[in-house]
Amino acid sequence: MNDMVMKQRIVEKQWAIVPQKRSEVHTAAPILEPGKWQQFDPFLLWMDDWFSQGAFGEHPHRGMETVSYVIEGAIEHYDDKGHEGRLEAGDVQWMTAGRGVVHNEIPPEGVTTHLLQLWVNLPAEHKMAEPRTQLLKRDQIPVRREEGVEIYVISGESGDVKASTLNYAPITMLEINLERGASFTQSLAEDHNAFLYILEGEGRFGSAGTLGEKGQLLALKHEKEASELLIQASEEPLKLLLIAGKPLREPIAAHGPFVMNTPEQIVQAYDDFRSGNF
Ligand code: FE2
Repeated sequence: MNDMVMKQRIVEKQWAIVPQKRSEVHTAAPILEPGKWQQFDPFLLWMDDWFSQGAFGEHPHRGMETVSYVIEGAIEHYDDKGHEGRLEAGDVQWMTAGRGVVHNEIPPEGVTTHLLQLWVNLPAEHKMAEPRTQLLKRDQIPVRREEGVEIYVISGESGDVKASTLNYAPITMLEINLERGASFTQSLAEDHNAFLYILEGEGRFGSAGTLGEKGQLLALKHEKEASELLIQASEEPLKLLLIAGKPLREPIAAHGPFVMNTPEQIVQAYDDFRSGNF
């Protein structure tokens, strides 16, 4: 690939994430709000949650994946397929609900956990896939290191560093840490939608140098061809998450925790859940 002709990405839209108290044990904000299926495709929603015990109960999913990324605190998780474990800060759980999972995620007693949860859509042909859970502990996530740059490759690749995380459709998810003044360039595959959520600091993003700061979501302009994204930290360290994926461009029928292609499949999901056929 010739760098001289590589398409450069720019920021098309940006918005601030505003957390709101939902109950005594739960504060939340949508980063990517549900319903904008085409705009965010293949992502369905992305939530920023602060919660303690009692916020969530046991619940089902079908037809999608949930990706939980712990910022602070911890959660104990279990599901009806016999998976259980604990996630600490920096750990990621990549759960493929496929044909159906019933699960729960509970912070330890007295702990308020700060967690991001991303919902990734599954291609129609994989919506009824066998459920699976990939637990990515912080110290097992591959890291790309350069001068002033540290990138945890949660899924996909950055430079020569590749994650072994399994995807049904290719998804890139990176935790990007830049020291003050540092910069780096990330390659993005052709026809991928890409979003950045800034966790700390501020910087300039894309070839137009759009300013972004903590608490903002930046949506990149879509490009049909392979492209690059330039990120430059300002006068303080910058920490952000990047997610990117190829749009599925399939019909979506979503109801609660079930995301299928047709209304009939949603009815079937409720029938199967009620009759214990997950
Ligand atoms: Fe869930």
